Amino acid sequence: MSNKLDKSPYFYSMLGNPRALFPTISASDHKLRRTAIAPFFSTTAVMRFRPQVQALTDRFCERIRVCEENGEPIPVFFAYRCLTVDIIAEYIFGKKLGLLEREDWGRDFYSAWRSLWEMSPLIRQLPWMMGAFRAMPRWVLALTQPKALEVVDMETSTDELTREVLSADPETVKAKGQPTVLWEVAHSDALPEHEKSFDRLKVEGNNILAAGFETTGATLAHLTYCILADKDVHKRLQKELEDAIPDEDDIPDWQKLEKLPYLNAVMKETLSRVAVGAYSRLPRVHRTQSMRYKDWIIPAGTEVGMSGLYVNMDPDIFQEPKLFKPERWLEPDAQQRLEPYITTFGKGTRACVGINLAYTELYTVIATLLRRFPDLRLHETTKEDVEPVADYFAGMWRYEEGKPGIQVMA
Ligand code: HEM
Repeated sequence: MSNKLDKSPYFYSMLGNPRALFPTISASDHKLRRTAIAPFFSTTAVMRFRPQVQALTDRFCERIRVCEENGEPIPVFFAYRCLTVDIIAEYIFGKKLGLLEREDWGRDFYSAWRSLWEMSPLIRQLPWMMGAFRAMPRWVLALTQPKALEVVDMETSTDELTREVLSADPETVKAKGQPTVLWEVAHSDALPEHEKSFDRLKVEGNNILAAGFETTGATLAHLTYCILADKDVHKRLQKELEDAIPDEDDIPDWQKLEKLPYLNAVMKETLSRVAVGAYSRLPRVHRTQSMRYKDWIIPAGTEVGMSGLYVNMDPDIFQEPKLFKPERWLEPDAQQRLEPYITTFGKGTRACVGINLAYTELYTVIATLLRRFPDLRLHETTKEDVEPVADYFAGMWRYEEGKPGIQVMA
């Protein structure tokens, strides 16, 4: 297949303005934008940001310690999203959003995003809809479309973060010792001036925040469920972490953690088949040339796509695909054989740009949490709490306002 594939304008219109990297339609616009941003998500760049990931994880654990002392359950469905929002916001806007400080674990924040995702199939049919909502007086929206108002307010507050970062003093930004991604993009030599306007960068900021927090937050919740729901998995992982990390206050970095065989196996098992990033088909199209796939010729202009679910649940690749079996990754040659079938981060030129940051977060948070809270256990949680019930691009879990979702006790 050619790498000059555009994304489908119809399908991706649900992600809003196509001027951000993620929903960019044309392959050539995408190349330009990706070149400007990718260096800040390389392994080296992310390793420089790692102390902040650990610091926010430490703060997360402090809050869990308080819950432990008070005998309170922790609604990790929300708690993880607070953590992942705070991490990505610090990296792209250089600002502490402080969701981890919120008493209610940021339920309002999640509710606004959830509203956006729930509206997304409609936005795909009526792409002008959000523009119309933005143009309405607030009180009309409050009376007629309260969910849309949540979305508009959320966008306005994220736009403000972009405005702040763009007007930040260069000396202060540079003194941080780690990049502030949106500021760097705004000063990038790789982009023409019109790509660096406030109007484009606010959409970029909004999109990266969304791309970076929901996926990683949901994966952390999946990991937690898969580990705690199986006593043998939990016990074996706990022992490996205790042996490998003698001091719970000195957590190794991601590159060391991923060398722990069982932790690595649990991670890959979760990512390969349980925490499937996108459920949708992610359609692509070549405008001018036909494409060949095996014996098929796909005419120019035909949109094609496939959900990663077909790979993850293929019994010829993953035997007994519905079982959570980290051990499959410990078999001889399993890594070489199975790794190419991890589709969770997408593949090719449009694959996830944030994969290194995602891995840093996943390994750091799970290792720190389990090492510090050996008695962690599920609380009033069943399999239904972690099963996707809707395809809003990603597979989304059951969510009812006022309900806690997956919970743990420390
Ligand atoms: C477990 C966590 C994550 C998963 C499962 C995930 C999954 C994905 C997938 C499947 C795609 C491709 C979508 C498509 O083809 O349309 C993608 C793209 C993207 N992801 Fe992630 N992602 C994760 C974490 C992150 C993080 C932490 C960031 C923060 C920067 C991020 C930012 C992006 C961006 C900007 C794109 C668009 C890339 C492009 O078009 O060049 N993701 N992600």
